[in-house]
Amino acid sequence: MSNLSGVSSIGEPEFLKLVDVSKTFGSHRVLDKINLTVSEGEVLVIIGPSGSGKSTLLRCINFIAAPDEGEVIFEGHVWKSRISKYNFLANRRYEQKLTALRSEIGMVFQNFNVFPHMTAAQNVMLGLTKVRKQNKDLARKAAVEALTQVGLADKVDQYPDKLSGGQKQRVAIARALALKPKVMLFDEATSSLDPELVNGILEEIRRLAKAGMTMVVVTHEMNFAFQVAHRIVFMDEGRIVEIGTPEEIRKTTEPRTRSFLSAILN
Ligand SMILES: Nc1ncnc2c1ncn2[C@@H]1O[C@H](COP(=O)(O)OP(=O)(O)OP(=O)(O)O)[C@@H](O)[C@H]1O
Ligand SMILES: [Mg+2]
Repeated sequence: MSNLSGVSSIGEPEFLKLVDVSKTFGSHRVLDKINLTVSEGEVLVIIGPSGSGKSTLLRCINFIAAPDEGEVIFEGHVWKSRISKYNFLANRRYEQKLTALRSEIGMVFQNFNVFPHMTAAQNVMLGLTKVRKQNKDLARKAAVEALTQVGLADKVDQYPDKLSGGQKQRVAIARALALKPKVMLFDEATSSLDPELVNGILEEIRRLAKAGMTMVVVTHEMNFAFQVAHRIVFMDEGRIVEIGTPEEIRKTTEPRTRSFLSAILN
């Protein structure tokens, strides 16, 4: 099924599953009953017009934004936004448990979100010491390893203002990878980069795909999407319009997908 040469094969078919996930802001239903499964080792790429709910969907997967309704099932464990309608304390305790889910599902945002007052290594160490409670020596070792993995071995002790946009984004990727996540979410990881830096980050995502990392990737880079994806999800107005292999989406007869693709590819 894969169009990726040398990529590891897809494993457990319902590794990550979203069931009827919905989210409303005010009166705007931004996600409307999203049902989606991601297999272990799969690269799922989400495309769709601005405002269609792609970022919100990614954020609901690891509960950075809690869904209002529905469930996220990860490795057989069911996560909901709250466990009780009335018991505030129980919900608070449950909220703390969600930290475990967040550390297994790493996320990389468009704007890096690296802390300017911390070096590259300190940025990467933060999650290891705070979330994983690792001691500083171990965390530093893991940070150096993760930074080396993304090609920043010589920038370990550099502050972000001395790094290019692409390098800052690599720090953000290293920070997520250092926690050894089982899934990585990328939300337009290249869209605030200068054009000459885009390919380097796309290459990094490709490298992770080849290593068998399960990923959900939101991108406007259509060539990349069609090359790297096992399946492509097209979203519009908070709904999944269709899901298919790159070949299926390329040949789709669904009018909304066709009009989106023809607008973006021309
Ligand atoms: N915190 C929020 N409060 C209110 N509305 C929000 C919030 N976050 C997102 N929205 C709205 O939800 C809709 C979907 O937003 P989302 O960011 O998920 O879209 P998107 O598909 O990622 O768009 P883009 O391609 O521009 O990044 C938009 O109409 C947006 O204005
Ligand atoms: Mg977005």
